[in-house]
Amino acid sequence: MIARINGLNLAYTDQGHGMPVVLLHAFPQNRAMWEPQVRALSKTHRIIAPDFRGFGESDAPLWHYTLDQFADDVAGLLDHLAIKQAVLVGLSMGGYTLFAFYRKYRARVNGLVLADTRAQADTEEGRAGRFAMAQTAYTKGAGAIAEIMLPKLLSPVALQTKPQLAGQVRATIEQTQISGIAGALMAMAERPDSVPLLTQIACPTLVITGELDGPTPPADGKLMAGKIPGARLEIIPQAGHLSNLEQPDAFTGAVRSFLNSLA
Ligand code: MLT
Repeated sequence: MIARINGLNLAYTDQGHGMPVVLLHAFPQNRAMWEPQVRALSKTHRIIAPDFRGFGESDAPLWHYTLDQFADDVAGLLDHLAIKQAVLVGLSMGGYTLFAFYRKYRARVNGLVLADTRAQADTEEGRAGRFAMAQTAYTKGAGAIAEIMLPKLLSPVALQTKPQLAGQVRATIEQTQISGIAGALMAMAERPDSVPLLTQIACPTLVITGELDGPTPPADGKLMAGKIPGARLEIIPQAGHLSNLEQPDAFTGAVRSFLNSLA
């Protein structure tokens, strides 16, 4: 489905009935990465999964992107769907967006799932890496980004034993527009430090980390769960950064038991 939000066409999935749950995807993926969770959780919940601006079937304007814009787009989509409150699940860049969303729209949040993400801002080195990746995208195309990102997104064991999954993640990256890749890199590079926000998060929160996650290792998950009052931590065995795709049943099970605890 497509909605006109903040002057752009935003694509989204809206499936099932019940308590609304919003799934926010990683970089440089799109809402297709949530297919196992949409299928399983839409039996009991209303699942909404947008493509961020710049990704999937959403518009990808060539301009400056920010995570506040991503958060505004999510809020605009909830308005469009007449949803006042939801549980929000964000993986990696989706999680960075949840911090921006919580800052601006905390009254709309029933619960948070922070998956394979981190509260810290980029280091100087990290920001330089984003700039270099944007130049690579511009000069060499999305295929070169897939080469760089695939070993970060999937664990070595998944790369070896799950060729179909690796092919799917690669294809999604290769189909992503350069304006979206560069825009999101700028947005992530400029994101503020959210560590001071953690102690102020007052809604039920689940933190999930893949045991083998390289970009946002379990230590990042432990830091968030240690500071967010009452937060639960779930470490998914045998899962890399895209833990929801490497171990979909364990990931979905953790989210489902969190949703049940809210009901
Ligand atoms: C993601 O999966 O969204 C990215 O790895 C996040 C990042 O590059 O920091």
